[in-house]
Amino acid sequence: MTPPATHKLWGGRFAGGPSPLLDAINRSIGVDLRLWPHDVRLSQAWAAALAEGGVLTAEERDQIVAGLDRVAARIAAGEPPTAADEDVHTFVDRLLHEALGGAPAAGKLHTGRSRNDQVATATRLWALEACREVDAAARDLQAVLVARAEGLRHALMPAYTHLQRAQPVSAAHWLLSHVWPLARDRRRLAAAARGASTMPLGSGAVAGSAFPVPRESLRRALGFDAVSENSIDAVGDRDFVAEFLFALALMGAHLSRLAEDLILFGSSEFGFVRFGDGFSTGSSMMPQKRNPDALELARGAAARSLGDLVAMLGTLKGLPSGYNKDLQDDKRALFDAVDLALLVLPAVAGTVAELTFDEARLRAAVTPAMMATDLADHMVRGGATFREAHAAVGALVRAAEEQGVELDDLGAERMVAEHPALAGAEGALAAEASVAQREVRGGTGPKAVLLQLEEAKRAIAE
Ligand code: ARG
Repeated sequence: MTPPATHKLWGGRFAGGPSPLLDAINRSIGVDLRLWPHDVRLSQAWAAALAEGGVLTAEERDQIVAGLDRVAARIAAGEPPTAADEDVHTFVDRLLHEALGGAPAAGKLHTGRSRNDQVATATRLWALEACREVDAAARDLQAVLVARAEGLRHALMPAYTHLQRAQPVSAAHWLLSHVWPLARDRRRLAAAARGASTMPLGSGAVAGSAFPVPRESLRRALGFDAVSENSIDAVGDRDFVAEFLFALALMGAHLSRLAEDLILFGSSEFGFVRFGDGFSTGSSMMPQKRNPDALELARGAAARSLGDLVAMLGTLKGLPSGYNKDLQDDKRALFDAVDLALLVLPAVAGTVAELTFDEARLRAAVTPAMMATDLADHMVRGGATFREAHAAVGALVRAAEEQGVELDDLGAERMVAEHPALAGAEGALAAEASVAQREVRGGTGPKAVLLQLEEAKRAIAE
Protein backbone atom coordinates (compact mmCIF):
# COMPACT_ATOMS: atom_id res chain seq x y z
CA MET A 1 0.00 0.00 0.00
CA THR A 2 1.40 3.39 -0.96
CA PRO A 3 1.06 6.11 1.64
CA PRO A 4 -0.87 9.17 0.50
CA ALA A 5 1.30 12.02 -0.79
CA THR A 6 -0.90 14.56 0.95
CA HIS A 7 -3.05 14.35 4.03
CA LYS A 8 -6.43 14.02 2.36
CA LEU A 9 -9.59 12.90 4.12
CA TRP A 10 -10.74 11.08 0.98
CA GLY A 11 -9.25 9.68 -2.21
CA GLY A 12 -9.13 5.89 -1.85
CA ARG A 13 -11.65 5.27 -4.61
CA PHE A 14 -9.82 7.46 -7.16
CA ALA A 15 -7.05 6.12 -9.35
CA GLY A 16 -5.89 9.54 -10.45
CA GLY A 17 -5.50 12.69 -8.39
CA PRO A 18 -7.81 15.68 -8.69
CA SER A 19 -7.09 18.34 -11.26
CA PRO A 20 -5.38 21.43 -9.90
CA LEU A 21 -8.38 23.26 -11.30
CA LEU A 22 -10.67 21.30 -8.99
CA ASP A 23 -8.32 21.97 -6.09
CA ALA A 24 -8.48 25.66 -6.79
CA ILE A 25 -12.24 25.89 -6.73
CA ASN A 26 -12.69 23.33 -3.95
CA ARG A 27 -10.14 24.55 -1.42
CA SER A 28 -11.80 26.58 1.35
CA ILE A 29 -8.97 26.83 3.87
CA GLY A 30 -8.49 30.51 3.01
CA VAL A 31 -11.98 31.21 4.30
CA ASP A 32 -12.68 28.56 6.92
CA LEU A 33 -9.33 28.53 8.76
CA ARG A 34 -10.84 30.78 11.40
CA LEU A 35 -13.20 27.96 12.43
CA TRP A 36 -10.23 26.09 13.89
CA PRO A 37 -10.86 26.74 17.61
CA HIS A 38 -14.38 25.37 17.21
CA ASP A 39 -13.22 22.46 15.05
CA VAL A 40 -10.70 21.54 17.74
CA ARG A 41 -13.24 21.90 20.53
CA LEU A 42 -15.92 19.83 18.84
CA SER A 43 -13.33 17.20 17.92
CA GLN A 44 -12.31 16.89 21.55
CA ALA A 45 -15.96 16.56 22.53
CA TRP A 46 -16.41 13.99 19.76
CA ALA A 47 -13.46 11.92 21.06
CA ALA A 48 -15.03 11.98 24.52
CA ALA A 49 -18.38 10.91 23.08
CA LEU A 50 -16.74 8.07 21.11
CA ALA A 51 -15.12 6.87 24.34
CA GLU A 52 -18.42 7.13 26.20
CA GLY A 53 -20.00 5.05 23.43
CA GLY A 54 -17.26 2.43 23.75
CA VAL A 55 -15.72 3.17 20.35
CA LEU A 56 -12.45 4.55 21.75
CA THR A 57 -10.61 3.48 24.85
CA ALA A 58 -10.10 6.05 27.57
CA GLU A 59 -6.44 6.06 26.67
CA GLU A 60 -7.11 6.78 23.01
CA ARG A 61 -9.51 9.56 23.99
CA ASP A 62 -6.88 11.13 26.24
CA GLN A 63 -4.28 10.89 23.49
CA ILE A 64 -6.60 12.63 21.04
CA VAL A 65 -7.66 15.35 23.47
CA ALA A 66 -4.06 16.09 24.44
CA GLY A 67 -2.97 15.93 20.81
CA LEU A 68 -5.67 18.43 19.84
CA ASP A 69 -4.47 20.73 22.62
CA ARG A 70 -1.05 20.68 21.00
CA VAL A 71 -2.64 21.27 17.58
CA ALA A 72 -4.49 24.30 18.97
CA ALA A 73 -1.31 25.69 20.49
CA ARG A 74 0.50 25.22 17.19
CA ILE A 75 -2.18 26.98 15.12
CA ALA A 76 -2.49 29.74 17.71
CA ALA A 77 1.27 30.25 17.41
CA GLY A 78 0.83 30.88 13.70
CA GLU A 79 1.30 27.48 12.03
CA PRO A 80 0.15 28.13 8.46
CA PRO A 81 -1.82 25.58 6.45
CA THR A 82 -0.06 24.19 3.41
CA ALA A 83 -1.36 24.38 -0.14
CA ALA A 84 -2.48 20.76 0.22
CA ASP A 85 -4.81 21.36 3.18
CA GLU A 86 -8.23 21.36 1.57
CA ASP A 87 -10.11 22.91 4.46
CA VAL A 88 -9.83 23.58 8.16
CA HIS A 89 -10.98 20.06 9.06
CA THR A 90 -8.25 18.52 6.92
CA PHE A 91 -5.67 20.89 8.39
CA VAL A 92 -6.59 20.09 12.00
CA ASP A 93 -6.67 16.37 11.22
CA ARG A 94 -3.23 16.49 9.60
CA LEU A 95 -1.75 18.31 12.57
CA LEU A 96 -3.36 15.78 14.91
CA HIS A 97 -1.67 12.96 13.03
CA GLU A 98 1.62 14.82 13.33
CA ALA A 99 1.02 15.51 17.03
CA LEU A 100 0.37 11.83 17.74
CA GLY A 101 3.37 10.76 15.69
CA GLY A 102 1.45 8.14 13.76
CA ALA A 103 -0.32 6.60 16.78
CA PRO A 104 -3.46 4.81 15.54
CA ALA A 105 -5.72 6.90 17.80
CA ALA A 106 -5.37 9.84 15.37
CA GLY A 107 -6.89 7.78 12.60
CA LYS A 108 -9.88 6.87 14.78
CA LEU A 109 -11.16 10.38 15.49
CA HIS A 110 -13.17 10.60 12.30
CA THR A 111 -15.15 7.45 13.19
CA GLY A 112 -18.88 7.96 12.78
CA ARG A 113 -18.65 11.58 11.78
CA SER A 114 -18.41 13.47 8.52
CA ARG A 115 -17.21 16.90 7.61
CA ASN A 116 -20.87 17.53 6.86
CA ASP A 117 -22.00 17.41 10.48
CA GLN A 118 -18.62 18.74 11.56
CA VAL A 119 -18.69 21.95 9.54
CA ALA A 120 -22.33 22.64 10.36
CA THR A 121 -21.50 22.29 14.06
CA ALA A 122 -18.34 24.41 13.90
CA THR A 123 -20.11 27.16 11.96
CA ARG A 124 -22.92 27.23 14.53
CA LEU A 125 -20.41 27.52 17.37
CA TRP A 126 -18.69 30.35 15.51
CA ALA A 127 -22.02 32.09 14.87
CA LEU A 128 -23.00 31.89 18.53
CA GLU A 129 -19.79 33.66 19.51
CA ALA A 130 -20.17 36.21 16.72
CA CYS A 131 -23.74 37.02 17.78
CA ARG A 132 -22.43 37.95 21.22
CA GLU A 133 -19.67 40.14 19.76
CA VAL A 134 -21.98 41.99 17.37
CA ASP A 135 -24.51 42.45 20.15
CA ALA A 136 -21.87 44.03 22.39
CA ALA A 137 -20.79 46.41 19.62
CA ALA A 138 -24.41 47.38 18.91
CA ARG A 139 -24.94 48.01 22.61
CA ASP A 140 -21.85 50.25 22.69
CA LEU A 141 -23.26 52.34 19.86
CA GLN A 142 -26.60 52.60 21.66
CA ALA A 143 -24.77 53.82 24.76
CA VAL A 144 -22.99 56.54 22.79
CA LEU A 145 -26.26 57.70 21.20
CA VAL A 146 -27.96 57.81 24.60
CA ALA A 147 -25.07 59.73 26.16
CA ARG A 148 -25.23 62.32 23.38
CA ALA A 149 -29.03 62.51 23.72
CA GLU A 150 -28.73 63.30 27.45
CA GLY A 151 -26.80 66.45 26.62
CA LEU A 152 -29.27 67.61 23.95
CA ARG A 153 -32.62 67.26 25.66
CA HIS A 154 -33.31 70.98 25.45
CA ALA A 155 -31.92 71.58 21.96
CA LEU A 156 -34.67 71.94 19.37
CA MET A 157 -34.36 70.97 15.75
CA PRO A 158 -36.63 70.16 12.83
CA ALA A 159 -37.92 66.65 12.41
CA TYR A 160 -38.24 65.81 8.73
CA THR A 161 -40.70 63.91 6.59
CA HIS A 162 -39.96 63.65 2.88
CA LEU A 163 -36.75 65.43 3.93
CA GLN A 164 -38.88 68.58 4.28
CA ARG A 165 -38.98 70.43 7.59
CA ALA A 166 -41.98 69.02 9.40
CA GLN A 167 -42.24 69.75 13.13
CA PRO A 168 -39.88 70.79 15.94
CA VAL A 169 -38.45 68.07 18.15
CA SER A 170 -35.84 67.77 20.86
CA ALA A 171 -32.46 66.79 19.37
CA ALA A 172 -32.40 64.04 22.00
CA HIS A 173 -35.60 62.66 20.49
CA TRP A 174 -33.94 62.48 17.07
CA LEU A 175 -30.83 60.75 18.49
CA LEU A 176 -33.00 58.27 20.38
CA SER A 177 -34.88 57.48 17.18
CA HIS A 178 -31.70 55.66 16.16
CA VAL A 179 -31.41 53.75 19.44
CA TRP A 180 -34.66 51.76 19.13
CA PRO A 181 -33.91 50.19 15.74
CA LEU A 182 -30.69 48.92 17.30
CA ALA A 183 -32.71 47.49 20.19
CA ARG A 184 -34.78 45.55 17.66
CA ASP A 185 -31.60 44.49 15.83
CA ARG A 186 -30.26 43.12 19.09
CA ARG A 187 -33.44 41.12 19.64
CA ARG A 188 -33.06 39.69 16.13
CA LEU A 189 -29.44 38.80 16.87
CA ALA A 190 -30.57 36.99 20.02
CA ALA A 191 -33.19 35.13 17.97
CA ALA A 192 -30.53 34.19 15.41
CA ALA A 193 -28.37 32.86 18.25
CA ARG A 194 -31.27 30.72 19.48
CA GLY A 195 -31.62 29.43 15.91
CA ALA A 196 -27.93 28.54 15.79
CA SER A 197 -28.05 26.69 19.08
CA THR A 198 -29.13 23.30 17.73
CA MET A 199 -26.35 20.71 17.41
CA PRO A 200 -25.96 18.77 14.14
CA LEU A 201 -23.03 16.66 15.38
CA GLY A 202 -23.98 12.99 15.34
CA SER A 203 -25.77 13.34 11.99
CA GLY A 204 -22.77 11.92 10.13
CA ALA A 205 -22.78 12.53 6.41
CA VAL A 206 -26.56 12.43 6.11
CA ALA A 207 -28.10 9.35 7.77
CA GLY A 208 -26.85 9.66 11.35
CA SER A 209 -23.81 8.15 13.02
CA ALA A 210 -23.65 4.35 13.06
CA PHE A 211 -21.87 4.38 16.42
CA PRO A 212 -23.62 4.81 19.77
CA VAL A 213 -22.51 8.37 20.44
CA PRO A 214 -24.36 9.99 23.35
CA ARG A 215 -25.59 13.14 21.65
CA GLU A 216 -27.00 14.55 24.85
CA SER A 217 -23.62 14.65 26.58
CA LEU A 218 -22.11 16.07 23.38
CA ARG A 219 -24.74 18.78 23.43
CA ARG A 220 -23.96 19.63 27.03
CA ALA A 221 -20.21 19.64 26.42
CA LEU A 222 -20.56 22.05 23.51
CA GLY A 223 -23.20 24.24 25.14
CA PHE A 224 -25.99 23.83 22.58
CA ASP A 225 -29.65 24.26 23.58
CA ALA A 226 -30.89 21.28 21.56
CA VAL A 227 -29.86 18.42 19.29
CA SER A 228 -31.12 18.23 15.72
CA GLU A 229 -34.03 15.85 15.14
CA ASN A 230 -33.29 14.82 11.57
CA SER A 231 -29.84 14.07 10.12
CA ILE A 232 -30.81 14.90 6.52
CA ASP A 233 -32.13 18.27 7.65
CA ALA A 234 -29.23 18.90 10.02
CA VAL A 235 -26.43 18.67 7.44
CA GLY A 236 -28.19 20.97 4.97
CA ASP A 237 -29.79 23.41 7.42
CA ARG A 238 -28.32 26.89 7.11
CA ASP A 239 -31.40 28.74 8.37
CA PHE A 240 -29.27 30.06 11.21
CA VAL A 241 -26.88 31.65 8.72
CA ALA A 242 -29.73 33.26 6.78
CA GLU A 243 -31.31 34.51 10.02
CA PHE A 244 -28.06 35.96 11.25
CA LEU A 245 -27.44 37.56 7.85
CA PHE A 246 -30.93 39.05 7.84
CA ALA A 247 -30.36 40.56 11.28
CA LEU A 248 -27.06 42.01 10.04
CA ALA A 249 -28.52 43.29 6.76
CA LEU A 250 -31.34 45.09 8.52
CA MET A 251 -28.95 46.49 11.09
CA GLY A 252 -26.81 47.64 8.16
CA ALA A 253 -29.83 49.48 6.77
CA HIS A 254 -30.37 51.15 10.14
CA LEU A 255 -26.73 52.20 10.38
CA SER A 256 -26.90 53.48 6.83
CA ARG A 257 -29.90 55.63 7.73
CA LEU A 258 -28.11 57.08 10.76
CA ALA A 259 -25.04 57.69 8.60
CA GLU A 260 -27.10 59.38 5.93
CA ASP A 261 -28.78 61.68 8.50
CA LEU A 262 -25.38 62.68 9.83
CA ILE A 263 -23.78 63.14 6.42
CA LEU A 264 -26.61 65.51 5.51
CA PHE A 265 -26.52 67.27 8.86
CA GLY A 266 -22.77 67.75 8.55
CA SER A 267 -23.00 69.40 5.12
CA SER A 268 -22.55 73.18 4.99
CA GLU A 269 -26.15 73.44 3.83
CA PHE A 270 -27.42 72.02 7.13
CA GLY A 271 -24.48 72.79 9.40
CA PHE A 272 -26.12 71.00 12.33
CA VAL A 273 -23.06 68.94 13.27
CA ARG A 274 -19.33 69.10 12.81
CA PHE A 275 -17.27 65.90 12.49
CA GLY A 276 -14.32 65.41 14.81
CA ASP A 277 -10.73 64.94 13.65
CA GLY A 278 -10.64 61.28 14.62
CA PHE A 279 -13.32 60.31 12.13
CA SER A 280 -12.82 62.80 9.30
CA THR A 281 -10.56 62.55 6.30
CA GLY A 282 -9.12 65.28 4.11
CA SER A 283 -8.85 65.63 0.37
CA SER A 284 -5.64 65.13 -1.59
CA MET A 285 -6.54 68.14 -3.70
CA MET A 286 -8.86 70.43 -1.76
CA PRO A 287 -7.18 71.60 1.44
CA GLN A 288 -10.41 72.78 3.05
CA LYS A 289 -12.19 69.40 2.97
CA ARG A 290 -13.36 67.46 6.04
CA ASN A 291 -15.11 64.34 4.84
CA PRO A 292 -17.23 61.93 6.92
CA ASP A 293 -15.71 58.79 5.38
CA ALA A 294 -16.58 56.44 8.24
CA LEU A 295 -20.26 57.26 7.75
CA GLU A 296 -20.08 56.86 4.00
CA LEU A 297 -18.37 53.50 4.44
CA ALA A 298 -21.08 52.50 6.92
CA ARG A 299 -23.68 53.40 4.30
CA GLY A 300 -21.78 51.41 1.67
CA ALA A 301 -21.29 48.43 3.98
CA ALA A 302 -25.06 48.04 4.21
CA ALA A 303 -25.09 47.15 0.51
CA ARG A 304 -22.50 44.44 1.09
CA SER A 305 -24.39 42.89 4.02
CA LEU A 306 -27.51 42.85 1.92
CA GLY A 307 -25.53 41.13 -0.83
CA ASP A 308 -24.35 38.52 1.65
CA LEU A 309 -27.93 37.77 2.70
CA VAL A 310 -29.12 37.55 -0.90
CA ALA A 311 -26.20 35.25 -1.79
CA MET A 312 -27.10 32.88 1.05
CA LEU A 313 -30.80 32.82 0.25
CA GLY A 314 -29.99 32.33 -3.43
CA THR A 315 -27.78 29.37 -2.55
CA LEU A 316 -30.41 27.72 -0.36
CA LYS A 317 -33.13 28.21 -2.92
CA GLY A 318 -31.40 26.02 -5.49
CA LEU A 319 -30.49 23.02 -3.32
CA PRO A 320 -31.90 19.55 -2.96
CA SER A 321 -31.99 18.16 0.58
CA GLY A 322 -28.91 16.89 2.40
CA TYR A 323 -25.44 18.39 2.17
CA ASN A 324 -24.30 20.01 -1.08
CA LYS A 325 -20.96 21.66 -1.66
CA ASP A 326 -22.61 24.96 -2.53
CA LEU A 327 -23.06 25.27 1.23
CA GLN A 328 -19.33 25.73 1.65
CA ASP A 329 -19.85 29.36 0.62
CA ASP A 330 -22.12 30.05 3.60
CA LYS A 331 -19.04 30.97 5.56
CA ARG A 332 -17.82 33.51 3.03
CA ALA A 333 -21.12 35.41 3.35
CA LEU A 334 -21.40 34.99 7.12
CA PHE A 335 -17.83 36.01 7.92
CA ASP A 336 -18.01 38.99 5.57
CA ALA A 337 -21.20 40.38 7.10
CA VAL A 338 -20.00 39.84 10.68
CA ASP A 339 -16.58 41.36 9.98
CA LEU A 340 -18.29 44.35 8.41
CA ALA A 341 -20.63 44.86 11.35
CA LEU A 342 -17.69 44.68 13.76
CA LEU A 343 -15.91 47.38 11.74
CA VAL A 344 -18.89 49.61 11.13
CA LEU A 345 -20.49 49.66 14.60
CA PRO A 346 -17.42 51.00 16.44
CA ALA A 347 -16.61 53.46 13.64
CA VAL A 348 -20.12 54.91 13.77
CA ALA A 349 -19.98 55.00 17.57
CA GLY A 350 -16.66 56.84 17.41
CA THR A 351 -18.02 59.33 14.89
CA VAL A 352 -21.10 60.06 17.01
CA ALA A 353 -19.01 60.42 20.18
CA GLU A 354 -16.86 63.04 18.44
CA LEU A 355 -19.65 65.11 16.87
CA THR A 356 -20.06 68.75 17.80
CA PHE A 357 -23.69 69.85 17.64
CA ASP A 358 -24.33 73.44 16.61
CA GLU A 359 -27.39 74.12 18.76
CA ALA A 360 -27.91 77.61 17.33
CA ARG A 361 -28.03 76.22 13.78
CA LEU A 362 -30.40 73.47 14.87
CA ARG A 363 -32.71 76.01 16.51
CA ALA A 364 -32.51 78.43 13.57
CA ALA A 365 -33.74 75.69 11.24
CA VAL A 366 -37.01 75.55 13.17
CA THR A 367 -39.18 78.02 11.24
CA PRO A 368 -42.67 79.30 12.17
CA ALA A 369 -44.38 77.42 9.34
CA MET A 370 -43.42 74.21 11.18
CA MET A 371 -45.96 75.18 13.86
CA ALA A 372 -48.86 75.20 11.37
CA THR A 373 -50.16 71.98 12.91
CA ASP A 374 -50.03 73.61 16.34
CA LEU A 375 -52.20 76.47 15.07
CA ALA A 376 -54.74 73.98 13.77
CA ASP A 377 -54.60 72.08 17.09
CA HIS A 378 -55.25 75.38 18.91
CA MET A 379 -58.38 75.87 16.79
CA VAL A 380 -59.55 72.34 17.55
CA ARG A 381 -59.24 73.08 21.27
CA GLY A 382 -61.42 76.13 20.58
CA GLY A 383 -64.15 74.00 19.04
CA ALA A 384 -63.27 73.90 15.33
CA THR A 385 -63.11 70.57 13.52
CA PHE A 386 -59.61 69.57 12.44
CA ARG A 387 -60.72 69.66 8.83
CA GLU A 388 -61.84 73.29 8.94
CA ALA A 389 -58.79 74.21 11.02
CA HIS A 390 -56.48 72.61 8.47
CA ALA A 391 -58.11 74.65 5.67
CA ALA A 392 -57.91 77.94 7.61
CA VAL A 393 -54.25 77.49 8.58
CA GLY A 394 -53.48 76.37 5.04
CA ALA A 395 -54.89 79.67 3.80
CA LEU A 396 -52.68 81.57 6.26
CA VAL A 397 -49.61 79.66 5.12
CA ARG A 398 -50.43 80.56 1.53
CA ALA A 399 -50.95 84.22 2.46
CA ALA A 400 -47.59 84.35 4.26
CA GLU A 401 -45.89 82.68 1.30
CA GLU A 402 -47.46 85.15 -1.13
CA GLN A 403 -46.35 88.10 0.98
CA GLY A 404 -42.91 86.59 1.40
CA VAL A 405 -43.13 86.65 5.21
CA GLU A 406 -43.07 84.05 7.97
CA LEU A 407 -46.30 82.73 9.46
CA ASP A 408 -45.76 84.64 12.71
CA ASP A 409 -45.38 87.94 10.77
CA LEU A 410 -49.05 87.89 9.69
CA GLY A 411 -50.27 89.20 13.03
CA ALA A 412 -53.19 88.38 15.33
CA GLU A 413 -55.73 90.42 13.38
CA ARG A 414 -55.12 88.65 10.09
CA MET A 415 -55.29 85.30 11.84
CA VAL A 416 -58.64 85.98 13.52
CA ALA A 417 -59.95 87.33 10.22
CA GLU A 418 -59.26 83.93 8.72
CA HIS A 419 -61.15 82.13 11.49
CA PRO A 420 -62.41 83.26 14.90
CA ALA A 421 -61.01 80.12 16.54
CA LEU A 422 -57.54 81.55 15.82
CA ALA A 423 -58.02 84.09 18.59
CA GLY A 424 -55.12 83.89 21.04
CA ALA A 425 -53.23 81.46 18.82
CA GLU A 426 -49.93 83.43 18.70
CA GLY A 427 -48.50 81.42 21.58
CA ALA A 428 -48.96 78.25 19.55
CA LEU A 429 -46.39 79.57 17.08
CA ALA A 430 -43.54 79.08 19.55
CA ALA A 431 -41.45 75.95 18.93
CA GLU A 432 -41.05 75.38 22.67
CA ALA A 433 -44.84 75.39 23.07
CA SER A 434 -45.18 72.92 20.21
CA VAL A 435 -42.74 70.51 21.81
CA ALA A 436 -44.28 70.97 25.27
CA GLN A 437 -47.67 69.83 23.93
CA ARG A 438 -46.26 66.46 22.99
CA GLU A 439 -45.97 64.69 26.31
CA VAL A 440 -47.74 61.63 24.95
CA ARG A 441 -45.70 58.46 25.54
CA GLY A 442 -43.19 58.27 22.68
CA GLY A 443 -43.61 61.97 21.91
CA THR A 444 -41.01 64.73 21.96
CA GLY A 445 -42.28 66.54 25.09
CA PRO A 446 -39.55 67.14 27.69
CA LYS A 447 -41.00 64.71 30.24
CA ALA A 448 -41.70 62.08 27.59
CA VAL A 449 -38.11 62.33 26.35
CA LEU A 450 -36.80 61.99 29.87
CA LEU A 451 -38.89 58.84 30.31
CA GLN A 452 -37.69 57.60 26.93
CA LEU A 453 -34.07 58.10 27.99
CA GLU A 454 -34.69 55.95 31.06
CA GLU A 455 -36.34 53.26 28.95
CA ALA A 456 -33.43 53.36 26.49
CA LYS A 457 -30.93 52.90 29.29
CA ARG A 458 -32.97 49.98 30.58
CA ALA A 459 -33.03 48.42 27.10
CA ILE A 460 -29.26 48.74 26.84
CA ALA A 461 -28.69 47.16 30.24
CA GLU A 462 -30.83 44.12 29.35
N1 ARG B 1 -15.31 22.56 3.56
C1 ARG B 1 -16.60 21.95 3.52
C2 ARG B 1 -17.68 23.00 3.80
O1 ARG B 1 -17.34 24.02 4.26
C3 ARG B 1 -16.67 20.89 4.56
C4 ARG B 1 -17.69 19.85 4.25
C5 ARG B 1 -17.20 19.00 3.14
N2 ARG B 1 -18.12 17.95 2.88
C6 ARG B 1 -18.05 17.21 1.79
N3 ARG B 1 -18.96 16.31 1.64
N4 ARG B 1 -17.09 17.35 0.90
O2 ARG B 1 -18.84 22.80 3.53
